[in-house]
Amino acid sequence: MKQNQCIAIDGPVASGKTTIGKELAKKIDYCFLDTGIMYRAVTYLALEKKINPNDTGLLIDSIKKLKFKFIPNSTNYQVNLDNKNITKHLKNPTIEKHVSVVATNSLIRSELVKIQREIAYSNHIIMVGRDIGTIVIPNAKNKFFLIASSIVRAQRRYAEFKKTGINLSFEIVKSEIENRDKIDTERKESPLKPAHDSILINTDKMNIDEVVEEMINNIEINK
Ligand code: DC
Repeated sequence: MKQNQCIAIDGPVASGKTTIGKELAKKIDYCFLDTGIMYRAVTYLALEKKINPNDTGLLIDSIKKLKFKFIPNSTNYQVNLDNKNITKHLKNPTIEKHVSVVATNSLIRSELVKIQREIAYSNHIIMVGRDIGTIVIPNAKNKFFLIASSIVRAQRRYAEFKKTGINLSFEIVKSEIENRDKIDTERKESPLKPAHDSILINTDKMNIDEVVEEMINNIEINK
């Protein structure tokens, strides 16, 4: 299996990468991995074990306690910490608040990128994140970069939070998205940016099916 059989989808927070990536994976029978959950899992680990995010050595040692598992025949995944399933905690607002800062740490990034490349080498996979096309699998033949305005992204994220019973004002959701965009794009290590050969898709006025269709029209599949 070669990296060029993987599909990279990058883009800013709440640009639809996960929803669209999962739909596309189902349509073309690929596995799916949202690499954001890896950075979230490390953030959860730091908070849970009360490790200072600047204590990189201790955090990297602790990453070994995390297990990232695919659930066969689905686009779902499970993250375990010390054999406890922590998946449902990874999208909560406390993690959201701290994750961008953890993701600026270059040593943590290289540890996670190693795991991501191993997965990419052994699976037909759609991988979503911020640096997939630029750093993780630069040889991927198919690379997409999703964009959408911060208002549209905040509307989507606000609706998602509401559905899961999380009550945050629209203004707070929007300002946190903008704050994370700033950290993700301005960081020194693997900043969020399209690869030179990415196809840019602005999803502001498109629904999920339209974006998936646009991707399928541009994909070269060679299993
Ligand atoms: O996509 P997400 O919101 O779950 O990502 C959480 C954080 O992790 C986000 O602030 C950026 C970071 N991240 C990253 O730096 N590189 C990736 N490949 C994926 C996520």
